[in-house]
Amino acid sequence: MQIFLDTTDTAVLKDLASTGLVDGVTTNPSLIAKSGRPMLEVIAEICDLVEGPVSAEVAATETEAMLAEGRKLAGVAPNVVVKVPLTRAGLTATGVFSREGIQTNVTLCFSAAQALMAAKAGATYISPFIGRLDDHGADGMDLIAEIRAIYDNYDFDTEILAASIRTTAHVTASALMGADCATIPPAVFLDLFKHPLTEKGLDQFMSDWAKTGQSIL
Ligand code: E4P
Repeated sequence: MQIFLDTTDTAVLKDLASTGLVDGVTTNPSLIAKSGRPMLEVIAEICDLVEGPVSAEVAATETEAMLAEGRKLAGVAPNVVVKVPLTRAGLTATGVFSREGIQTNVTLCFSAAQALMAAKAGATYISPFIGRLDDHGADGMDLIAEIRAIYDNYDFDTEILAASIRTTAHVTASALMGADCATIPPAVFLDLFKHPLTEKGLDQFMSDWAKTGQSIL
């Protein structure tokens, strides 16, 4: 499973990308607003830091304006993926982008029917929002399972990008369900490395090693 970071914080991104485990980045208008910086500048900087796909979301809600914005965003760097909302206008734009060879991430997906339509439109990625569905009283993981089954039934190439991830359990469950990628907030990314028994075991090993008085180098 590919792991993307859901962030516009380039300092954090630079640090976490040094692990070699960040395959891409997603952003959204709220994260751009949080950065307090011009969108095109932030996206260009992120694209310099990460070789993989970087999702940049259109702000327009009508197809023609989405197309104009998306083409501009796609021109920022070769690894830009144009993010469009899962609306009728968004999927119409997705079809055009697909025919133009521009990669797309269809966002704000909350049902399997929506995901089916996005795949038919030629979306590169579909982003089901797990955490927001959980908040809404549903089980986000059921949606991942349904989309996986539908896409496998018809051999759709659209990749499932589990989004709105809140916990490491969401990441594990997404992987078990066969999501192709997950986009993760930096704090959850850092939690993925941790287990209390790892820390306890390492403390013991270091304590025993110190008693030997040895040095490897
Ligand atoms: C994904 O592309 C979105 O930017 C993100 O996962 C939304 O997460 P949130 O529901 O925590 O805002």
